Amino acid sequence: MTIRAPEAVEVTTDKIDNLQPYELTDHLERGRVLMFPTPPLELPCDEDLHFLKQQTPEYHTRKNISYYPGGGLIRGIKAPPEIEQRTQAILKDYQQKVEACLHNLIPSFTPGWRSATSSLRVFEENNRGIPIRERSDLIHLDAGTYGAARGDLILRFLTNLDDEERVWRCKGTVFDVVETFAEAAGLERSDALLRDSVLNRVGSGMVRGLSKMVPTTAMLETSAYDQAMRHLHNYMKESDEFQQDQEGIVEIRFPPKSCWLVFADMAGHSCLSGEFAMINTFMVPRSNFRHKEFSPWEVLSRYAAGQSALPPDIPLGT
Ligand SMILES: [Fe+2]
Repeated sequence: MTIRAPEAVEVTTDKIDNLQPYELTDHLERGRVLMFPTPPLELPCDEDLHFLKQQTPEYHTRKNISYYPGGGLIRGIKAPPEIEQRTQAILKDYQQKVEACLHNLIPSFTPGWRSATSSLRVFEENNRGIPIRERSDLIHLDAGTYGAARGDLILRFLTNLDDEERVWRCKGTVFDVVETFAEAAGLERSDALLRDSVLNRVGSGMVRGLSKMVPTTAMLETSAYDQAMRHLHNYMKESDEFQQDQEGIVEIRFPPKSCWLVFADMAGHSCLSGEFAMINTFMVPRSNFRHKEFSPWEVLSRYAAGQSALPPDIPLGT
């Protein structure tokens, strides 16, 4: 099996003014990265950017500082109230702007979607000295970050707020990765792969009850689908062979003040360098796909049924 590099598609301001229906979503469904050389929305003002860059680093308690719109909470920061409140206000405002922008750019993906997090990263991504499964500089598919996705997709809108390029190293889409590495990653080739265990179902019920009082505990929920995606994620990060083999590797450079959009559970990616960025995440129901054959759920279903995980060849625009 050939591992291909995820394609990057440039979306200029001209193109945005003349979009065909499904033009952008068709690319995203195929695991491509949409690059916006000019931001398709208003970025936080210079004063706010200066504040975030100067005031927040010493108060980080996690990899990201994240605002959760669902619970109206901020996590990953322990700072004096005025700093926490201003950080939260900036992250909240930007999430709302991204949401409005995506309603305009990719309307068919938004029904029933969930605004998950508005996150800030202020540290250099390279060699951050964190555990291997949490490292962003090893190529991976995102999995299990938001509790049980159950086949819904992780859509990320990223903004490079730095004065330097942000560099991604990408390799493979979920199609190639499942087709080639699912067995090595320990994924069972049977219908049990996507069937929730009794433990999952009981656990989910308990977590859902608890998350009504403590919204962040929703992250503890899991499902057979999420466990399968987590196995792939861990295999990719922990396999030297996967990380070192150059087949299908491509470097994508995102200039300062540019934005990009991708299903982080469909395009294999890592961040080699870059310091100051915002990451806005939305959970998109897989039923919003125009061609469901491309969704990771369907990819895993085909694999579980002993078929090729690869999707059918559907021409763009049809
Ligand atoms: Fe990621």
